[in-house]
Amino acid sequence: MKEKSKQNIQEIELYKKFKRISVAEFFERNRHLLGFDSPRKALLIAVKEYVDNSLDACEEYRILPDIKVEIDRLENDIYKVIVEDNGPGIPYENVPEIFGSFLFGSKFHRFISTRGKQGIGASAVTLYSQLTTKEPVEIITKMKNKEKGIKYKIKIDVKTNTPIILEKEEVEMKKESGTIVKAKIIGQYIKGKQSVDEYIRLTALINPHANIIYKNPDGERFVYKRIINEIPELKEVKPHPYGIELGYFDRLIRETKEETLLNFLTKTFSSVGQNTAMEVLKKAKLDPDIDPKSLNDDQIIKLYNALQNAKLRAIPSKYIVTLGRDIILKSMENILKPEYMAAIKRRPALYRGIPFIVEVGIAYGGEINEFQYYRFANRVPLLYKPGEDAITHALKEINWKHYGFEVEGEFPKDPMAILVHVASVWLPFTSESKEAIAPYDEIVREIELGIKNALRELSIYIKKKRALETIGDKYKNLYGYGLEVIDSLSSILDIEKEKVEERVKERIKKELVNDIYEILKSVREVKNLLKEGKEDRAVTLIKNMLKDTVKINLLSEKELEDMIVEVINDVKKNKLSLLS
Ligand SMILES: Nc1ncnc2c1ncn2[C@@H]1O[C@H](COP(=O)(O)OP(=O)(O)OP(=O)(O)O)[C@@H](O)[C@H]1O
Ligand SMILES: [Mg+2]
Repeated sequence: MKEKSKQNIQEIELYKKFKRISVAEFFERNRHLLGFDSPRKALLIAVKEYVDNSLDACEEYRILPDIKVEIDRLENDIYKVIVEDNGPGIPYENVPEIFGSFLFGSKFHRFISTRGKQGIGASAVTLYSQLTTKEPVEIITKMKNKEKGIKYKIKIDVKTNTPIILEKEEVEMKKESGTIVKAKIIGQYIKGKQSVDEYIRLTALINPHANIIYKNPDGERFVYKRIINEIPELKEVKPHPYGIELGYFDRLIRETKEETLLNFLTKTFSSVGQNTAMEVLKKAKLDPDIDPKSLNDDQIIKLYNALQNAKLRAIPSKYIVTLGRDIILKSMENILKPEYMAAIKRRPALYRGIPFIVEVGIAYGGEINEFQYYRFANRVPLLYKPGEDAITHALKEINWKHYGFEVEGEFPKDPMAILVHVASVWLPFTSESKEAIAPYDEIVREIELGIKNALRELSIYIKKKRALETIGDKYKNLYGYGLEVIDSLSSILDIEKEKVEERVKERIKKELVNDIYEILKSVREVKNLLKEGKEDRAVTLIKNMLKDTVKINLLSEKELEDMIVEVINDVKKNKLSLLS
């Protein structure tokens, strides 16, 4: 008996040690989950959370984004991050909770291709700011229908996960609408692959509809002008049962306004029609007419499992925001300035019943001087945790030698950039900081196929180019020979030197014209471009292929271009069957 009560006391002591902590306190202790695990990464994440929000808000309100990012170095590793947008502004009464309380957002659990999702990003920066510099964040925002803007300084009360408002005042703002956020944090500014500079460049690459002006702490300014005027269209869809966890399902049942279980199922979710719902209810042994709120835990779990095991239609892929082949090509040309490009968009595929689409672009040569790959998830560049990411997993599956590339370490030596974009209304990430796409088999496989499709096109181009290098030697010989004999020929034949040179040039030009016909006949990408009416791009491509071969000052680029246009026109005029 005595023993028993001693044990009870021990248990009570133990229970005393248990306590509930707020989500803010949890993240304060686990800030690595939010991506703030080193000063250099913190600087990047702060910029990224704000820029993601600006782009999301502009897209949702159909505004072409103008975004300004500035990072100032203050003292002792303290940096000030400023992000300004021309978005819709933030409802004034919501500002404190958005920036001063976790899990407050407008995109929470919505099935929509936004960058943000969890209602964590903005508060995460506030938390990190107060942890490292003790400073609040400052927000100035203005909505279209308001005469004045409003300025707030906000911190988080970590114990209760509620906002502390340190300052609040009306301010004049010239813009019709928009938001400026400022945070002072401890950071570290670096150059290179994981830098803010690179994040901004890649953000511009995957968001060619945005104007982005960026000033880094060294005072360098980068201006990325928008090259298209179409705003990606976000369409929202009701949640799909396969994409939700039991806990959230439980909440949906408890909070529903529907009065029967049947209505709850058909009205809350996408892809659940009357018949499917009845079948699911039958499997779960539940009456379709009862009040959903009357279900006990056991019944909720049964219903959840029956739904997960039912054969449901996938969400239609029209809800997924992709760039498409043409825009990827245009944007790669603008930012990467390569010699050759190929891009493909895969058809929608499913993971756990949720559709996703993979897009791949490959840019080769030109201003690119080494192998690199760029990862994008719902139009956000991912710079960290490549090892965990589905895209890296897929790249490791590629047999580069098969496509004619020489490999050094894991990847080819060739100067090429591979862009992979995975888009979905519900993307699985490996953590809250959304730094890597979870390597589900289905996703890895799709990415792998996408890369292979694009590589196939590139390898045809490279093979052709190598063949052309032999032609290059031919010109060198021709012209070199010509040069040597020009002097002697002109004196032996008593013809002016210029005339001899002219003849040699003529001869070489004839050869070139033949080669242009040859390219038109055999390079698929050139044929495609011409078929699609993109003659300019075809001319540039042919020019790039021949440029090296005529480097020896034989022709100016303009002369070469004119020749290519002439041959193309000839082919078109005479309806030669080369393009079929
Ligand atoms: N610049 C902005 N303009 C307009 N609304 C904004 C802006 N920044 C934030 N918001 C609003 O604040 C909400 C919360 O932003 P927050 O970054 O905390 O979460 P989120 O973007 O919804 O999800 P995530 O945690 O994945 O970033 C957003 O859902 C959006 O409604
Ligand atoms: Mg966000």
